[in-house]
Amino acid sequence: MTHTPLPLDVTLGRLDLPNPVLVASGTFGYAREMAGLVDLSRLGGVIPKTITRVARPGNRPWRTVETAAGMLNSIGLDNDGLEAFIEHHLPYLGSLGVPAIVSIAGRTIEEFVEMAARLDGLSGVAAIELNISCPNVSGGVDFGTDPASCERVVGGVRRACGVPILAKLTPNVTDIAAVARGAEAGGADAISAINTCLGMGIDWRRRRPLLGNVLGGLSGPAIKPIALRCVYQIAKAVKTPIVGIGGIASIDDTMEFLVAGASAVQVGTANFYRPTAAIEILDALPAALASLGTKCVADVVGTLELPQ
Ligand SMILES: Cc1cc2nc3c(=O)[nH]c(=O)nc-3n(C[C@H](O)[C@H](O)[C@H](O)COP(=O)(O)O)c2cc1C
Repeated sequence: MTHTPLPLDVTLGRLDLPNPVLVASGTFGYAREMAGLVDLSRLGGVIPKTITRVARPGNRPWRTVETAAGMLNSIGLDNDGLEAFIEHHLPYLGSLGVPAIVSIAGRTIEEFVEMAARLDGLSGVAAIELNISCPNVSGGVDFGTDPASCERVVGGVRRACGVPILAKLTPNVTDIAAVARGAEAGGADAISAINTCLGMGIDWRRRRPLLGNVLGGLSGPAIKPIALRCVYQIAKAVKTPIVGIGGIASIDDTMEFLVAGASAVQVGTANFYRPTAAIEILDALPAALASLGTKCVADVVGTLELPQ
């Protein structure tokens, strides 16, 4: 018996993706590094490491530490800056045949707007993800913790450029739904949730923090329940599509996020220990969708049934 393949494409506002399984910023390099390990052309989208207007050396070592069920990082947006990205990485990303969503971080709204305007219309830029949620740099995180600031930065970028915009939110707030409403009011095409959870590790024998930056971002399976909770709360608060991120490593994780309200997912930390995780999820997706009797990804999104 032959089955008609299920359509896996998804739409996030003005952005069309071939399938809902993407790879998260900072966990997949600039994609070139992963080419020998992963069939990049099958991914739903690639989000390269966040870039800033000018190059940043990042934080002092140690910058990554393994923890129970996850990892801590305090990379600090180590990158070569916008122009180096456009020259050295964008042509390759644009050649992959999958949407490249360029992640940017600015210290001010003007910087976000300036970077977005520079990227606007460049070949290879399918969308821009605003990293307003990095816990490892001072100055940028405020946009993701205050709904009005979030609205202003998303709105400013929306007015300055024509490409779809994703606003990436931090879980390190009291009310993530309020920040999501700000992103929606600003005109975000999608909301990515979540970035890492602020944490720390300690070597008690040396009475020293494990990370050179003292604090860092916790990621991996340990944060999945937090991420699911955030996606669920955001989905109740806004109509804007959500991209779920946080501890996703398997088809079960992915389906949980779709049911909670995400229209797509990003695989992050799992790329470090199983670079093929996203492809394995993609391979398993049609059967998982079919097992629920659904005909496409959108049929599953936000279908959580709550106890009466
Ligand atoms: C080493 C490392 C570097 C990261 N760098 C970035 C970054 O540059 N920009 C960004 O938006 N998120 C960055 N993140 C956060 C991830 O994109 C993702 O939001 C987070 O790790 C949660 O997903 P996960 O649990 O699947 O890793 C980074 C995460 C890790 C572990």
